[in-house]
Amino acid sequence: MRLTVIGTGYLGATHAACMAELGHEVLGLDVDAGKAAALGAGRVPFHEPGLAALIARHTASGRLRFTTSYEEAGAFGQVHFVCVGTPQRTDGDAADLTHLEEAFARIARHARKGALLVGKSTVPVGTAARLADATAVEVAWNPEFLREGFAVEDTLRPDRLVFGVRTRRAERLLRGVYAGVLQAGTPLVVTGFATAELVKTAANAFLATKISFINAMAEVCEAAGGDVGKLSEALGHDDRIGGKHLRAGVGFGGGCLPKDIRAFAHRAAELGVDLGFLREVDAINMRRRDRVVALARELCRGRILGARVAMLGAAFKPDSDDIRDSPALNVAARLGLDGADVTVYDPEAMDNARKAFPLLGYAVSAGDALRGADLVLHLTEWPEFRDIDPAWAASLVACPRIVDGRGVLDADRWSGAGWWFRSLGRPAPRWEGEDAEIRW
Ligand code: UDX
Repeated sequence: MRLTVIGTGYLGATHAACMAELGHEVLGLDVDAGKAAALGAGRVPFHEPGLAALIARHTASGRLRFTTSYEEAGAFGQVHFVCVGTPQRTDGDAADLTHLEEAFARIARHARKGALLVGKSTVPVGTAARLADATAVEVAWNPEFLREGFAVEDTLRPDRLVFGVRTRRAERLLRGVYAGVLQAGTPLVVTGFATAELVKTAANAFLATKISFINAMAEVCEAAGGDVGKLSEALGHDDRIGGKHLRAGVGFGGGCLPKDIRAFAHRAAELGVDLGFLREVDAINMRRRDRVVALARELCRGRILGARVAMLGAAFKPDSDDIRDSPALNVAARLGLDGADVTVYDPEAMDNARKAFPLLGYAVSAGDALRGADLVLHLTEWPEFRDIDPAWAASLVACPRIVDGRGVLDADRWSGAGWWFRSLGRPAPRWEGEDAEIRW
């Protein structure tokens, strides 16, 4: 089939490449001419495993092209996927639908007779119906559930497909688009617009709640002397609970979960439904960042001013260069404001971090960041950081103090190598230097 993908950011670029991989002829559209040109030349402006290779292969074969012209897209496509961003509004918690509304209006103006406009962006419930009522072209909603770092895999082999449709014809067209995925046995839920929109926001609300639940348990463990790592492991063995998205630590960030739960609570309130628990989920999440800052203070005996802090991690999660609402950079910026001398290292997110936080220091490697540090914070769990030899790291720093904000470093190994080791929600191993005078 001939498909267009409107908006070639993170979601759209991945969707366009994967649709080409499924055998379709795809035209990606972006209003940013630089982005469209880069993608057309096979260059991906962000880090996502496997995506660059896929885009290079399909642009070379001619099955995937990019444009800035709505006219060209309208003439080309039978099905148009709209994948533009719906960020949080600057004046509150609601989603900003400006780009989405513009994209729908512009493609509708040029679409061929019988075309289908398919929304993939995360939207407040009620948006699809409103857009459909405002245009003569048929609309469907097909939410995406891809995770950064696994975007290609999640698109080609999703857990489920959801089609929000008003007619059999729209369902048939979408079944045609995803024929290869459906043949592989992927479950399909066909429903109305409202439910399709809600599946996405409800899924993200549930995931955020799960993470904040275990982080609230981490707070209890800290008060009671428990170990949230073991608690999470034991809870996860219960099939009804499951161990995924149950890792305690500095909490969730990124371009989706934080803004989606706020927009969801806001939209529900407009509809007269109180989802106040999502505000608590948000608050628990933000408290974990406060806790890291408090632990940093504690390990520096209250003397943050002038402390040299090595920050391992800048991306909101590993296998990504996305720094949107990154817990690591939020903590780094706060310590910087308190007078710490913070040096950040991340395997992929350095350019983005430097642009957003130009006043922080940046190292060329983990070892470079560790050199001379008074305190180390580990806040993004890249495998490279997990593999660091604690004895080697101890030989580089000025003082061996570390906070593991992701709960993946081996406490016994690190404290055995002489580190004062603290982790969120886990008992603190005794450190022999704990009572000694501070060295700097
Ligand atoms: C999320 C949803 O998972 C995805 O389905 C949706 O389409 C978009 O939003 P993503 O933002 O890529 O995807 O990241 P995810 O893997 O869910 O992680 C979000 C944040 O939660 C990260 O900061 C991660 O470090 C944190 N996290 C995740 C935890 O703190 N604990 C966990 O157990 C899992």
